[in-house]
Amino acid sequence: MAQMNKYQKEKPIIGDDERSGSNNLNPVSIIDAKTTNKAVFNDYCNNMAITAKNPHHPKLSILLKHLKDCHNIGIDIGAGTGHVSDCIIKQDEKNNYISRIYAVDMEKCFIDSIKTLNNNKIITIQENACKDHIFSLLPKKVDFLIFNSVIHELISYGCNYNIEQFWLSIWPRWLSIINNNGYVFVRDFIGVNNSNNKPITISIKRKNKKNYQQIKEFLKNFKKDWKTPRKELNYKWNKKTSIIKFKNYDILLEVLLSFRWGHLNKLQYDGVIAEQFINFNTNSLQYYTEKHGFKLIDYQYYLGQDYSNTFNKYFGINKDIQSHLHSKGVFLFQKCT
Ligand SMILES: C[S@@+](CC[C@H](N)C(=O)[O-])C[C@H]1O[C@@H](n2cnc3c(N)ncnc32)[C@H](O)[C@@H]1O
Repeated sequence: MAQMNKYQKEKPIIGDDERSGSNNLNPVSIIDAKTTNKAVFNDYCNNMAITAKNPHHPKLSILLKHLKDCHNIGIDIGAGTGHVSDCIIKQDEKNNYISRIYAVDMEKCFIDSIKTLNNNKIITIQENACKDHIFSLLPKKVDFLIFNSVIHELISYGCNYNIEQFWLSIWPRWLSIINNNGYVFVRDFIGVNNSNNKPITISIKRKNKKNYQQIKEFLKNFKKDWKTPRKELNYKWNKKTSIIKFKNYDILLEVLLSFRWGHLNKLQYDGVIAEQFINFNTNSLQYYTEKHGFKLIDYQYYLGQDYSNTFNKYFGINKDIQSHLHSKGVFLFQKCT
């Protein structure tokens, strides 16, 4: 049984740690960036598939462990390349408990990519998961829902950064279609609260001139170009000392994660300035899920190897701060009422 001492179950204040903003923006989706360039798209798909195919990767191990029991119908929301669904079905080959998984994605290129898996238990649906219409295309009740690295995108692109709309209307609507004892699996970027409210500092490594130049370029543009309305990018970069001071962990993570993707090329940069990674923390996720009769049964935090490689290559981050950094949280809730 998962115990989350650090995180209390009181009602999180939306608009405090999760600032709500105007939703008049028409974001340039990172998906546009990924899909307008074939090479970037292929690279992105390969990356997704490599981790998704490894059953020991934290991305999947919790889910696969619990889905070993009889579970009949599931939905993979924001399925991407569909490798997660494919992997679950392959694990189930002997038992044959799973009859089908609906793979929902709003992008045609991903739907096409899923079809190439030729898995006849995967049914593809090209639709925006934030629109009510989608429920008319799905079974009334299912045994599991998978939100694998997609909630931050649903909030960014599906709800135009409107987090209230997500927690108060979209999330409960999805949870309502899960059968008793069914599961909801969430894997996403998770914010961290500053317990002491002290600013956080990291330094930029200067030894490698090329790397240093890349960070300088990124920091110079990022604050100026940042498009999402919900978060003030409150950080100060001291050019003399190369120290960057952040107001809280969420901003630090937002900048580091954006740098991880955004320093690679212009297309990905255009994507990250429109995508907000840290939209919620464990407290909100737990509160808005348990409220609907679910129990957290397993969870894990981890920092993906590719993220720690990038962070360590470019930045000096002390151990204390390092221990708070994770690229993802993985959570499994079960419906128990
Ligand atoms: C980061 S990828 C994760 C893909 C996959 N779940 C995985 O982990 O390998 C997010 C996916 O969600 C899809 N997506 C984003 N917003 C969506 C929305 N509002 N409705 C449906 N799909 C969406 C994107 O097209 C993309 O394929």
